Amino acid sequence: MAAGAGLALLTALLAAAAAERGRKVSMQYNPGWNDSSVNLLHVQAVGPRDSLHYVWSSIGAPAVLLVATQSPSSALRVNWSQLLSPSPAGAIWIEPPDSVVYSTAVVFTKLFEFSEAKPLGELFYPTYDLAEFSWDSLNHTLNHTALTAELRGVPATDPGGGFSNGSLAFQITAFEASGRAGRLPSLLHTADSSQLEFILAGVAPRGNSSRFVLEMATVEEAGAVRRLRSQRSIDDEYTPTIFEVLSLLAEPPNSSSTLGFLQWKATAYGSRSPRREDGIQCRAQGLHQPNGTLPMSSIVQAYFGHSLGSSCTVSALNVTFGGEEGEVYREKRYLSWSVLLGFGEPPRDTFSPLVISIAAVALGTPLAMLLLGTCLLLLARRRRYSEYEPIN
Ligand SMILES: *[C@@H]1O[C@H](CO)[C@@H](O)[C@H](O)[C@H]1NC(C)=O
Ligand SMILES: *[C@@H]1O[C@H](CO)[C@@H](O)[C@H](O)[C@H]1NC(C)=O
Ligand SMILES: *[C@@H]1O[C@H](CO)[C@@H](O)[C@H](O)[C@H]1NC(C)=O
Ligand SMILES: *[C@@H]1O[C@H](CO)[C@@H](O)[C@H](O)[C@H]1NC(C)=O
Ligand SMILES: *[C@@H]1O[C@H](CO)[C@@H](O)[C@H](O)[C@H]1NC(C)=O
Ligand SMILES: *[C@@H]1O[C@H](CO)[C@@H](O)[C@H](O)[C@H]1NC(C)=O
Ligand SMILES: *[C@@H]1O[C@H](CO)[C@@H](O)[C@H](O)[C@H]1NC(C)=O
Ligand SMILES: *[C@@H]1O[C@H](CO)[C@@H](O)[C@H](O)[C@H]1NC(C)=O
Ligand SMILES: *[C@@H]1O[C@H](CO)[C@@H](O)[C@H](O)[C@H]1NC(C)=O
Repeated sequence: MAAGAGLALLTALLAAAAAERGRKVSMQYNPGWNDSSVNLLHVQAVGPRDSLHYVWSSIGAPAVLLVATQSPSSALRVNWSQLLSPSPAGAIWIEPPDSVVYSTAVVFTKLFEFSEAKPLGELFYPTYDLAEFSWDSLNHTLNHTALTAELRGVPATDPGGGFSNGSLAFQITAFEASGRAGRLPSLLHTADSSQLEFILAGVAPRGNSSRFVLEMATVEEAGAVRRLRSQRSIDDEYTPTIFEVLSLLAEPPNSSSTLGFLQWKATAYGSRSPRREDGIQCRAQGLHQPNGTLPMSSIVQAYFGHSLGSSCTVSALNVTFGGEEGEVYREKRYLSWSVLLGFGEPPRDTFSPLVISIAAVALGTPLAMLLLGTCLLLLARRRRYSEYEPIN
């Protein structure tokens, strides 16, 4: 076990070193289109030898496309008239096409709301279909310094009036270097990733103990599959409690290497300035490959085209917010959940010195014994010196 911990530490250090490469990030709103009634944000993160393209959009269901290329000068192309037509397949591509090494997409499809209705079990309210939302223009939320943008929307028709004082938003942050978010849940990031914060604010719940479920779907090519991995992280310094870190990894067939990931901590927050006590438990459920075709976002159809129905693998997953503390949302009317999206291996938490020493002692490693011995020796010496002091 001690060797395992050592190995984990080494791997973490290597990962941190690998993540040091910086990127130059640029953000462009609706490239080549002079109209702000639709949202398409192109984020390009250029490295020395490669470049990552993120395409965020609310045309159809909100979605992001991530394309990794092995050329710093690869470019995104959009045929707008085709993208906004009923058959968008082929309207988005990367030039040169052979620079593409990996493509994936994440679509946020639906928001479910349910209440515990004893003794009947769970009572579901009518579903909010995110493809049927109307979205504000993202243009005025773009901050080219902070590398942030926000996609904010409400249902196009809202007979229940639940959204009359509220909205649903996706806050996007791009990164030029690795680091850690200042706000809880203090996710680690690298220059190969972007962060997304899902925010439900001011939306009236339809039940006294309403809980929300966000459904999302991923798209992979060439037989790659998504696998959910759960890890315990003892992350005392940054999120002072024991957290579960979940990673939805994209893996090529017959290989355990990682092409891309979504990563989050098993907690959401019920406050605009989150503190530990505002935590709302979150669970991931039901990762599967849906039988029928999911209602897909236009940009996903535009990029993956006709292979969506044949060679692409679609996986869907539900993230449920709220466990026993079902009342939190009713009181706070605020829910925020952060997730990191990126290319390659997800970042790993390195252990803080405190945790390493606790682990070492707990494991009773020879090193810990040695350290302990040295400490005792030093203490004993100091004791002896102090014993002499009064005499002098
Ligand atoms: C964009 O459209 C507006 C109004 O339709 C027009 O005034 C403006 O010149 C256009 N800008 C460009 C760059 O085409
Ligand atoms: C986005 O905002 C910028 C600056 O405010 C403006 O110049 C540009 O025309 C806007 N783009 C669209 C598509 O509305
Ligand atoms: C855009 O797509 C339409 C419809 O497929 C096509 O007629 C048009 O030539 C395309 N434009 C460009 C610049 O490729
Ligand atoms: C953009 O972000 C920077 C850094 O966070 C901030 O100082 C600045 O005020 C923001 N600009 C706008 C227009 O919000
Ligand atoms: C919206 O806010 C107003 C005023 O604050 C309040 O009277 C109304 O009940 C709220 N509506 C909902 C659906 O929460
Ligand atoms: C919700 O709570 C209110 C007051 O706390 C109560 O009057 C009402 O019956 C509750 N509704 C349900 C469906 O439990
Ligand atoms: C993966 O393994 C399966 C059997 O385990 C094999 O049928 C398939 O051809 C392999 N695929 C690749 C790409 O090696
Ligand atoms: C998927 O479809 C097959 C037959 O087409 C059916 O037997 C199976 O139950 C379906 N699975 C789900 C999860 O709907
Ligand atoms: C998510 O939960 C809803 C409600 O239970 C269900 O209808 C939907 O199929 C689930 N989606 C996935 C991907 O499991």
